[in-house]
Amino acid sequence: MGSTVATGRVAGKVAFITGAARGQGRSHAVKLASEGADIIALDICEDLPFAHSPHATWADMEETVRLVEAAGGRIVARKADVRSREQIDAVLAEGLEAFGKIDVVIANAAAIAYKNVLDITVEEFEATLDVNLHGVFNTVQTPVRHMIERNEGGSIILISSGVAYRATPSPDYSAAKTALITFARALANELGPNRIRVNTIEPGYVLTPALDNDKYGERTAELLGREPFASREEHRAAMWDQFKPRNMLPVGWVEPEAISNAVLWLASDESRYVTAEELKVDAGFADKSA
Ligand SMILES: NC(=O)c1ccc[n+]([C@@H]2O[C@H](COP(=O)([O-])OP(=O)(O)OC[C@H]3O[C@@H](n4cnc5c(N)ncnc54)[C@H](O)[C@@H]3O)[C@@H](O)[C@H]2O)c1
Repeated sequence: MGSTVATGRVAGKVAFITGAARGQGRSHAVKLASEGADIIALDICEDLPFAHSPHATWADMEETVRLVEAAGGRIVARKADVRSREQIDAVLAEGLEAFGKIDVVIANAAAIAYKNVLDITVEEFEATLDVNLHGVFNTVQTPVRHMIERNEGGSIILISSGVAYRATPSPDYSAAKTALITFARALANELGPNRIRVNTIEPGYVLTPALDNDKYGERTAELLGREPFASREEHRAAMWDQFKPRNMLPVGWVEPEAISNAVLWLASDESRYVTAEELKVDAGFADKSA
C-alpha cells in the first residue's frame, strides 16, 4: 500500500472477521478490502470432530490473504479458535499493533453437527453452541471494550441464518442462530449510547464449502432417500432443485458476494442509523408461504 490513501465505502476502517479462510468470510474480507478497509482475520483451519462438514485449511487462509492483498488491502491473518478467548485476544492484539484500531466486527465463524434431535448427543449439542453462540460472545467482547475506550463508535455484524425463522433438521444450529438475534438486540441497546451499532444478517442458502462438500452430499442423498451422488455437479444440481421451491425468487441459493454486499453496507457509514436490525439476504426463504 505504501503511501497511497485508501478510497472506497469503508476507506480507512479496520474490520475483524472470524471464519475468514473461505466461503462467506473470505468474500467479506475481499469485498471490504476492495472498498478501502484493512482486515484482521482468523479461522480455526482444522476440522472439528462433531461438525458435519470439513473446515477450512491454512492453505485456504493463504488464498484469502492473497485475494485481500490483490484487492489493495492489508491483512493480519491467523489460525485461532473462536471458542478460546485467549486465542482471539492474541490475534486482536496483533491486529491492533498493525492497524491501531477496530471499527467493524463480523462474527461469521460457524460449525454445524447437522443431526436430528433424536440423534444428536449432549456433547455435540454443547459443542455447536460453543462455537456458534459462545464463540460470538468471545468474538465481540474485547473489540467492544476497545471501541468504547476509543469513543469513535463501531459496527458489529453477527451472521445468523434463515434457520432462525424456518425450521431445518438441525436443532443445535437453529437454537444458536436464533439466539444471536436477541443477543444482538441486547447489545444494540447497551451500546447505542457509545454509537456502536449491532445488527444481524440472515443468509438463506449460500453455495459455500459448508454445503458444497462430499459429506453434505451423503447427507443430502440420505435425506432424499436416494443413491449417493456420482459427482459434486450432480449433488449441486440436486441441491438447487431441492432449495429453489423454498425461496420466493427462482433461485436455489445466493452467491457469497450477495451477503458481502449487505456486510459492506452495515460496515459503512451509509447505515449509520441502522441498529438492532435483522437483514435477510435470502431470496425470500424466511417468509415464503407454504
Ligand atoms: N452456507 C449457507 O447456506 C449459510 C446459510 C445461512 C447462514 N450461514 C452462515 O454464514 C456463515 C459463513 O458460513 P459459510 O457458508 O461461509 O461456511 P464455511 O463453512 O465455508 O465457513 C465457516 C468458516 O468458519 C470456520 N470455523 C468453524 N469453526 C470455527 C472455530 N471454532 N473458530 C474459528 N473458525 C471456525 C471454518 O473453518 C470455515 O472457514 C456462518 O455463520 C453460517 O452459519 C451459511
